[in-house]
Amino acid sequence: MSKELMQMNIQRAQLRIKAEKEEVAKGSMRQRYHFMPQAGWMNDPNGLLYYKGKYHFFFQHNPYSSFWDCMHWGHAISDDMLHWEYLPEALAPSEAYDSHMKGGCFSGSAIEHEGRLYLIYTGATNVGNGMEQTQCIAYSEDGIHFEKYDGNPVIEAPEGVPACFFRDPKVWKHEDLFYMVCGASRGGRGQALLYRSKDLLHWEYVNVLAESRGEWGYMWECPDFYFLGDKYVLTFSPMGAGDRKSVYLTGDFDYSTGKFCYQTSGEIDWGHDYYAPQSFLAPDGRRLIVGWANEWEWMSYWKDWGPTYKEGWCGSFNIPREVRLMEDGTLQFRPIEEIRSIREDAYREDALLLEPGKEYDLKAGDGVAYELKMKIDLEHTDASRIELMLRGDGQRRTRCVIDLKKAQISVDRSLADGWSKGVSRSPLFLKNKKKLDVHILSDQSSLELFTDDYRNNHSMNVFAGNEQDRMYICAVDGQARIEDIESYGLKRTM
Ligand code: FRU
Repeated sequence: MSKELMQMNIQRAQLRIKAEKEEVAKGSMRQRYHFMPQAGWMNDPNGLLYYKGKYHFFFQHNPYSSFWDCMHWGHAISDDMLHWEYLPEALAPSEAYDSHMKGGCFSGSAIEHEGRLYLIYTGATNVGNGMEQTQCIAYSEDGIHFEKYDGNPVIEAPEGVPACFFRDPKVWKHEDLFYMVCGASRGGRGQALLYRSKDLLHWEYVNVLAESRGEWGYMWECPDFYFLGDKYVLTFSPMGAGDRKSVYLTGDFDYSTGKFCYQTSGEIDWGHDYYAPQSFLAPDGRRLIVGWANEWEWMSYWKDWGPTYKEGWCGSFNIPREVRLMEDGTLQFRPIEEIRSIREDAYREDALLLEPGKEYDLKAGDGVAYELKMKIDLEHTDASRIELMLRGDGQRRTRCVIDLKKAQISVDRSLADGWSKGVSRSPLFLKNKKKLDVHILSDQSSLELFTDDYRNNHSMNVFAGNEQDRMYICAVDGQARIEDIESYGLKRTM
């Protein structure tokens, strides 16, 4: 019966999506090339992998409304991570351990084993005394239709970890064993717990891989762990850590002891709309990472996620990024090179000398969906700051300030659209630097800004209309020299 119940719940969800999707597709705020759901609410990326010749993205999905509730796993496949084919929901709540309305099938990961595709997810339910989370398994022979394992749940919260703070398993294989990191909270500190298994079904607790000492919050959501270059990388999204929403640590790891010793920490993205990233390997060996273009803590009110709920949907992913390790242990996050395939209307300018206080228009596609790259020649710049206005119409705009005096970059969207609040800020390291690179990806409802060799990034949602298509640059208190300006329109893929 219970196998049938999940199938029935999936069919019900599919009927709802089918009934909604045409109307939703007409929405004026729909992204043009960023991944989003056909209808309903979406949050974290789940189970990202390349499987049988396609990229598979699963995602936290509520097909029944534009707000978070009863989590399903949505599913889509692609050849290039830009053009997508939606498949039926992979998981729907159906069992005692994942059936509660305010719970369901929470975040997790995917792995191929002996010809089957396994999903490892958190079952979230409510037994009357609060949310209870356990780790569960589902598998599939064809990569489309999944069945939950009869022996679920496979892991319960260990001692000292409240059952409401035990979630988001990320699984990988090393030599003959499977490993898992899972997010947790113990004694008010965020933790990543390490487990190990021979068969994906029976798990043994190893130890605490890393934990907050107060600086990174009380709970770690969506941890991920992988080898890159000659280091190990741990990423997680802390709860209760202020502006830090997507942290990385790089260091050394020993499989025989389970000890991770990190030397470097950083932020994957400082913007308000980058959370719960998950990574996976592309077939060519690239380590790719995808985040949910939103987050929880800035939102004080249900409408704060933006006005798209009126169009019957909410949520998109940030553009997938390639992770690279630098010599000093920091990480770069570069938009995937596949984006080049949707460029049009190329525009180039070798150099632009900005006189103080004067606005210079920059051209890029239709001013809505575009890519812009340029460099600030710091040796020939004496301005105290450079301001870039994006998605402007004379009154509304998003203001990005590169403050060379304060060594800080900020993105202020309080005048962007009448919806979004907040300024994101990050420190800029300018010592011995001759050029500062800037790369912007703009889509219908989002801006992503990359600087300092893709190590200092800001992703912000901006619900601006098509009349907001002006972009200009301005130097303050001095001159600035900008060079290697290159821009493109980006074609619609969604
Ligand atoms: C992160 C998160 C996860 C959880 C999921 C529920 O955004 O809170 O910890 O599994 O979303 O939708």
